[in-house]
Amino acid sequence: MAYQKCINCGSEYGIDEIVYFCRKCEDLLEIKYDQGELAEALRDNEWRNAPLSVWRYRNFMPISDSSKIVSLNEGGTGLHLCQRLAKHLGIRQLYVKNEGENPTGSFKDRGMTVGVTKAVELGVKSVICASTGNTSASLAAYAAKAGLQCAVLIPSGKIAYGKLSQAMIYGAKVIQVRGNFDESLDIVLKLSEKHRTIYLLNSINPFRIEGQKSLGFEICDQLNQEAPDRIVVPVGNAGNISAIWKGFTEFHELGVVKALPKMTGIQAAGAAPIVQAIKNGSDTIVPVAAPETVATAIRIGAPVSWKKAMTAIKESHGTAETVTDEEILSAQKMLARVEGLFVEPASASSIAGLIKLVDNGTIDRDERIVCVTTGHGLKDPDTAVKMSEKPVEVDAELAAIEEVLGLKKQVTILAR
Ligand code: F0G
Repeated sequence: MAYQKCINCGSEYGIDEIVYFCRKCEDLLEIKYDQGELAEALRDNEWRNAPLSVWRYRNFMPISDSSKIVSLNEGGTGLHLCQRLAKHLGIRQLYVKNEGENPTGSFKDRGMTVGVTKAVELGVKSVICASTGNTSASLAAYAAKAGLQCAVLIPSGKIAYGKLSQAMIYGAKVIQVRGNFDESLDIVLKLSEKHRTIYLLNSINPFRIEGQKSLGFEICDQLNQEAPDRIVVPVGNAGNISAIWKGFTEFHELGVVKALPKMTGIQAAGAAPIVQAIKNGSDTIVPVAAPETVATAIRIGAPVSWKKAMTAIKESHGTAETVTDEEILSAQKMLARVEGLFVEPASASSIAGLIKLVDNGTIDRDERIVCVTTGHGLKDPDTAVKMSEKPVEVDAELAAIEEVLGLKKQVTILAR
């Protein structure tokens, strides 16, 4: 039987209790399982025949009633072997786990399928989140599928257009807050404590993390039950890096994989409290009051899951690094042009971080590396258009196209 447990004081809560922070010490909660039951679930080999997806790992998820599952077919994303990029960067083996292939175009769908299923199990009627964009798009979609009321708080003018269009078309109540993500999160935390009928689905909700841990499970399965040497992942509110680590450690404890990857978190230079804490050898973060970056998805100054993320980085002997906006945009372009993968700026920070850490010798060129790209490039078309060469415009004439393409006019001499 699964239960909720405080990561600090160990207090336990029932699986159906709606509680976001420990009532004794106010720290985060995580889902724990009876180890014997998990081992039993692993022995039941049925799941290995199911296609790659979040629900392939149904036995490792804290959901009691399968008939309540709310799914849009999430997970099962490609693990792309990037030989051209690896050669370009002078590294041995590089994969990109491309989470933009999820139903709403980001890894958030892994968490939402489980989180919204839990909401349905609990019988709640309305859900809410604060978001830099992708969480709102995902929650809006899953709430629509489940017939739940949905409200999302987003920082006004600071979310990419694709994400805004998603939250709107799925019918969520979209509330633009004159403030940043951290302020919006603070409000939804207070709101969901005050109005207990509104279920909070930010990543402090441990059921979200359970869904997202499938990202780690899938990488193990796609590498034939092996862990890579290193995972490089963008970090914002810090739920995802914690979730991926949970997936790897659970598979490791069950003996599915023999080794564990070094978790490597990348933050934008203007929003990097976790990187600063890791670099300073500090046990706690100093929030950034006014975070700023072109990668709006990770424009976060006070990541709520910082403690879980720092545990993941430290326990795995990983590291953390910052990247500038310039480095992010250049990596985004490189990934698109060398590997045909179009990801949003925040996602490209994993590639930018890899480049920096290989260059400064932190990452060994011989490692087997997986970079996670978290969201689809079409989420933020404005940035892509702004940073690319302008299209040329010509008259609808063959000669005009030939001129643009630098083709010489063909002169054909007909034989008489
Ligand atoms: N990449 C993308 C594309 C994201 O949307 C996010 C987070 C992250 C990385 C960072 O993941 O927060 O788990 O560390 N986006 C959230 C949102 C905050 O509201 O969509 P994290």
